[in-house]
Amino acid sequence: MRHPVGTMKAIQETDHDVWAAIRDEEKRQREKLVLIASENYASPAVLGAQGCVMTNKYAEGYAGRRYYGGCQHVDTVEALAIERAKKLFGCEHVNVQPHSGSSANMAAYLSVLKPGDAILGMDLAHGGHLTHGHKVNFSGKLFQSYSYGVDRETECIDYDAVQRIAEDCQPRMLVVGASAYSRILDFSRFRDIAQAVGAYLLVDIAHIAGLIAAGLHPNPVPYADFVTTTTHKTLRGPRSGMIMCKAEHAKAVDKIIFPGLQGGPLMHVVAAKAVAFQEALSPAFTAYQRQVVANAKTLAEGFLERGYRVVSGGTDNHLFLLNLTPKGVTGKDAETGLDAAGIVVNKNAIPYDEKPPAVASGIRIGTPVVATRGMGNPDMQAMVALMDRVLQHVHDAKVQREVKKDVKAMCARFPIFHAYQPV
Ligand SMILES: Cc1ncc(COP(=O)(O)O)c(C=O)c1O
Repeated sequence: MRHPVGTMKAIQETDHDVWAAIRDEEKRQREKLVLIASENYASPAVLGAQGCVMTNKYAEGYAGRRYYGGCQHVDTVEALAIERAKKLFGCEHVNVQPHSGSSANMAAYLSVLKPGDAILGMDLAHGGHLTHGHKVNFSGKLFQSYSYGVDRETECIDYDAVQRIAEDCQPRMLVVGASAYSRILDFSRFRDIAQAVGAYLLVDIAHIAGLIAAGLHPNPVPYADFVTTTTHKTLRGPRSGMIMCKAEHAKAVDKIIFPGLQGGPLMHVVAAKAVAFQEALSPAFTAYQRQVVANAKTLAEGFLERGYRVVSGGTDNHLFLLNLTPKGVTGKDAETGLDAAGIVVNKNAIPYDEKPPAVASGIRIGTPVVATRGMGNPDMQAMVALMDRVLQHVHDAKVQREVKKDVKAMCARFPIFHAYQPV
């Protein structure tokens, strides 16, 4: 092995086809403005850990109780990930082995629930997530699932309505968290509702974990039995998951992750989580999260000034939804037109959407990536102008070509991956 571990050069020499696809993806990430709210650009250190030799190691079990020999060094990184996660979120217990956000949620449910039990979560069509009880997902197939949503007028969660639904359906687990909700979540109110009906409280902070770590959104840890997260969104770590819980659930959580649901943990990813958590403990990370939130506000205000409808009228976090109905544009056409102009968003249903999800009336806009690139408020104002131009002429290829040039120039001013050898 002549090349350092994880280098593109090694891939180029052994597998040209895969190398070329990775090179093209890197170019795409470099030259486009990515506004996907659930994505981020992990640091070179995180990427390095993810491409390291720990991928070679089996480590079923937990430190001191492994089913394989030779675990000294992977034990070290798992202990570091645990210690740093505890510092970041103040949790009593954490399991850093879930492979993803979905696995973390499955583990939270199955640690205390039985198939057929009732769960109550936020409706996917109102900003929730598939794993919170949607019928096509394991969570809706395995459990009797009920949902709550947002108020038609305010487009915010109506806590009184949540309480009424909880009283009616008597869930064993109340699930809080969203993938397309732009307002602060009131965890204390959710805890009161859960307690009133005797339900466990699960808060899924996949989207807002970075904001919570930086103190820019209330922390659900003191209120919830279980807190699950992905580690790759605002938290800016490797693509993975994590589950935190009260000490009383620690044994059940560890047992359901392994041997209940997973086999060997992905120790290279656990190493990358440890690296990301250390980064998240730094003052620079707090400053970064402040910029994420400021950028989202600037973008939302810019759209409002140009006569767009922002769902719920604004944002408190890293994302918001644009309702494009008054502009006569569908979410699908907006996504396609913007992508052709070098701006990447996803179409998204808006609350009470009359269009099918594959068409949708809105787009979701998020700022984790552009803030990672170092873009600030003036850049957001420029971005609104570019996006408005495309949305006003959503099928116009000439406008898309012109905007694409401006986007490329803007991206060139905020380089990424500069720690890498060009590929
Ligand atoms: C709120 C929420 N929970 C869970 C997940 C699932 O995470 P993963 O894709 O890692 O399974 C997501 C992903 O988008 C999410 O937004």
